[in-house]
Amino acid sequence: MATVQEKLMTKVYEEERAAPSKVTVVGVGQVGMACAYSIMQQGICRELALIDMIEDKLKGEMLDLQHCQRFVKNVSIHASTDYAVSANSNLCIVTAGSRQKEGESRRDLVQRNVNIFKAIIPQLVKHSPNTILMIVSNPVDILTYVAWKISGLPHERVIGSGTNLDTARFHFLISEKLNIAPNNVHGWIIGEHGDASVPVWSGVNIAGVNLKDLHPDIGSDGDLEKWNEVHKKVVNSAYEVIKLKGYTSWAIGLSVSTMTQALLRNQKNVHAISTLAKGFHGIEDDVFLSLPCVLGSHGVMYVIKQTLDENETKQLQTCARTMNELQQSLQF
Ligand SMILES: NC(=O)c1ccc[n+]([C@@H]2O[C@H](COP(=O)([O-])OP(=O)(O)OC[C@H]3O[C@@H](n4cnc5c(N)ncnc54)[C@H](O)[C@@H]3O)[C@@H](O)[C@H]2O)c1
Repeated sequence: MATVQEKLMTKVYEEERAAPSKVTVVGVGQVGMACAYSIMQQGICRELALIDMIEDKLKGEMLDLQHCQRFVKNVSIHASTDYAVSANSNLCIVTAGSRQKEGESRRDLVQRNVNIFKAIIPQLVKHSPNTILMIVSNPVDILTYVAWKISGLPHERVIGSGTNLDTARFHFLISEKLNIAPNNVHGWIIGEHGDASVPVWSGVNIAGVNLKDLHPDIGSDGDLEKWNEVHKKVVNSAYEVIKLKGYTSWAIGLSVSTMTQALLRNQKNVHAISTLAKGFHGIEDDVFLSLPCVLGSHGVMYVIKQTLDENETKQLQTCARTMNELQQSLQF
């Protein structure tokens, strides 16, 4: 007897073609779900797989996203505690792990999340050997290094969400000070995602007009206009949001989905993401720090060689050395 589906539709091909793009999100906490929701809402991939270790929460989040399907482009959503659900992903985004407690630094989280990564990363690579890995869990730069080491993947396919979000916060705060739209502010935060991030004041410009040419003290401690407060606010942003609402979610979700789009659609957009920084700006160690990178279907396609001033280069190198020392103390 014919099923309702058979009565309704005539099959004109034998098998559904493999989905052209698949994204897996590991960790369905506040950050993972903000990433998953943004990716689904923008219709960036055809298939979205969710993984967590808490079965009920995972199923609840899967159902809730599936119920969105009527309102968005068709994305098929699956979820499981079994990593087989992630098979053949083009991109695996890792948000699993502990988050900062109020007042806790990102670096303090490190060994707890390294232990979680030892379980997660090999499973992802086993099921998707050709995947790109995007690490979001904190401390993101060190965990991206750890994921690179554990995964055995080429460095261009292991990236950290890095300072893409810090850079967006930087643009927003400068735009408020100048009363123009944030996407017309050009400037970069590089280095570590967090307390030691480096604002590249030497390159901040609006329509090609370099703010440092107009105001040579910009960003320095002696600056009477106190532009350095902008960077202090960027650094403090996550702490402030966590203090007020307990976690950060929406902005990191959109930051990740924008980069997902660049990767899956081979857009070659430039984002500040955490990449193997050895060989750039005099960095000699295997550390992952954010630099402006061109993202495409192979992951990091190019690293932009920014012109930094002496102070910016020094800050980046100091951060690289501290990170390398911290990495030596990790067990994985
Ligand atoms: N890079 C960034 O810009 C950025 C921004 C915000 C948050 N974060 C980081 O993202 C991470 C997640 O934050 P959150 O607020 O979503 O935390 P959360 O506690 O809400 O969610 C974490 C999720 O990970 C899951 N998990 C833990 N161990 C797991 C394992 N072994 N396997 C599978 N799932 C596991 C938990 O069950 C939970 O659902 C934190 O490390 C946080 O610091 C990074």
